Amino acid sequence: MLSETRRTILKGIGAFGAVSVITNEFDQVSAYETNDHLAQTPPMGWNSWNQFACDISAELIKETADAMVESGMREAGYEYINIDDCWMASERDDDGNLQPHPERFPNGIEGVAEYVHDKGLKLGIYSSAGTRTCQGLPASLGYEEQDARSYAEWGVDYLKYDNCYNQGVDPRDRYAAMGKALRKTDRDIVYSICCWGKYDIYKWGADVGGNLWRTTGDIKPVWNANDSAWYEGIVDIIDLNEPLAQYAGPGHWNDPDMLEVGVEVEGYPGLSDREARAHFSMWAFMAAPLLAGNDIRDMDETTQKILTNEDVIALNQDPAGVQGYRLTVDGKQEVWKKPLANGDVAVALFNRGDSTKTFGTTAEALDLEDSAGNSSGFVVDDLWTKETRFTRGPIKDSVPSHGVTLFRVRQGTPDDAPSAVTFDVDGGSDSIERGETRSVTVSLTNDGRTAVEDIELNLDAPDGWNVSPQSAVTFDNAAPGKSIETSWEVTAPEQIDQGEYEFTLHASYTWDDGAKTASTSTVWELETLPAPPTGETYLSDHEWVDATIGWGSIGLDESVNGNVLTIGEATYEKGIGTHAESEITYWLDGTMSQFVADVGVDDEVTGKGTVRFSIVGDGETLTETDVLTNGDDPVSLSVDVSSVDKLTLVVTDGGDNINYDHADWADAQVLE
Ligand code: GLA
Repeated sequence: MLSETRRTILKGIGAFGAVSVITNEFDQVSAYETNDHLAQTPPMGWNSWNQFACDISAELIKETADAMVESGMREAGYEYINIDDCWMASERDDDGNLQPHPERFPNGIEGVAEYVHDKGLKLGIYSSAGTRTCQGLPASLGYEEQDARSYAEWGVDYLKYDNCYNQGVDPRDRYAAMGKALRKTDRDIVYSICCWGKYDIYKWGADVGGNLWRTTGDIKPVWNANDSAWYEGIVDIIDLNEPLAQYAGPGHWNDPDMLEVGVEVEGYPGLSDREARAHFSMWAFMAAPLLAGNDIRDMDETTQKILTNEDVIALNQDPAGVQGYRLTVDGKQEVWKKPLANGDVAVALFNRGDSTKTFGTTAEALDLEDSAGNSSGFVVDDLWTKETRFTRGPIKDSVPSHGVTLFRVRQGTPDDAPSAVTFDVDGGSDSIERGETRSVTVSLTNDGRTAVEDIELNLDAPDGWNVSPQSAVTFDNAAPGKSIETSWEVTAPEQIDQGEYEFTLHASYTWDDGAKTASTSTVWELETLPAPPTGETYLSDHEWVDATIGWGSIGLDESVNGNVLTIGEATYEKGIGTHAESEITYWLDGTMSQFVADVGVDDEVTGKGTVRFSIVGDGETLTETDVLTNGDDPVSLSVDVSSVDKLTLVVTDGGDNINYDHADWADAQVLE
């Protein structure tokens, strides 16, 4: 029997005209026999690539298996230990068999498989649907049956099958050939197709036996990668994977790539704890495979706690197998929904913006029926704080920048839970000058059905900051639907490093006629700013707020290579030498009137490099140049910046790639 989805997928593949090609090739196994009996829930485990790349060995794999058990990860559901690229020797043996790398796996893969199996875990391996793997080692195109037999004989339980060196052979033929070869072995081997979201794989991956297929390019430990980067960051991947929700289900999953929680690799910023929690939450929510990518033998407590949050894992492993999807988007704030097998609904409040925001949805918008009538309501479990609250309908939270609140919601009256209350913080702008005093208004709303009482609000500030309440911080009660409000004055220290500073708000309250206490909290951040420039200031003499560069390091009064700034043979003593992609932000505080500069590609790269310069004020593009190239005369810019608080100098690649994009902001100056 074909399910509705399966029918749609078959129609999809028919439209490619590929059916006959594949069918002819299949002698013993039907072209459309899937592997859906495996991976009924998204696979969970670990993969060596994100942290270790080619630096792998039998020892590492065995120690990782030990750590899976000791860290509680096996107990939490992690099962597969997957060896990625570089496990194989540089040549096949005389009979054409793949051989393990003699130093990395001196005793073969079998011994490792046995060790892993003895721990109650399973072993995964890697190859490519090409003549070579992405690291240039022998791969399986043309050797599908022989290699599948080797994997099965060694005791392999999972194959990740990449797309490098594919010789331009039709992807449907390449991936079907391995799917068929795996099914011909008498071993259950999960088939993970890795063709980077190409070829509409999500439409036909299941039909060639795929249990999961990559929907994107390679992930790196970065929140947001530039469009032109060759890799993807967390939010890039979320945007690529979300629209594919309809293709996921038990036995066949979208794969937005392996986890970066706790991964530390040179050249990438890594994720903050909050970002790591958001990443894990959203992968769980999207029914993605949960394949840890960090060194689990040596992880800190925060990482371990994120990876083993059983409530979040339960969303991921929910038997209904629905990939969560966006319900509403309001600017940078997104509400996501995931219906669960038992009728509960999971909600993700995802804040991809730069400041704390209060937002959410309602039980009604989630289609949660309040069938028990007015006396009932909704029970909300917060899967990270582990608090259970009762709401009459609003489902919202104050979510910090790059954070996610995960709720599991059901209709009913909890035996033992207080009314939900939600903070709303308004601290004006997100940035504060050294020594500046700012008023911060805070309200707390009762979203429940019963009053909350004896409310006490507190604000924790970082060291050196001064906070003083401007009105009462204790309140007798807040009735359902009502808010209380207060404000604090916050003063930044005169001497403080530039950066983000985190404040925590707490509210404690009683319920059940004062018999029980509960609390809630939220965080928000202020960014300390340098003093704005005065008079006529060369920006190369002034402290920036933030600066990024795509290659090398930013030159002050010199090019990125350390030479005299030179554009079209004109030389400059002052200015900034950078490289695409680059963003340099200055704090002007609305005190300047004009920005001027001569821009262009530096002569130090001859005949190469294409870039575009743009000037952005408070997030809006004020002007941008055409694509400029090496040898072009300097372009003189003069831009009105009156009323601009934050000025950002942006250099983007001109459309080829960032190679040779040495970009100069010569004589860059702001004028009062
Ligand atoms: C490709 C894949 C990665 C990893 C590497 C190994 O880039 O997409 O996930 O397997 O190959 O070389």
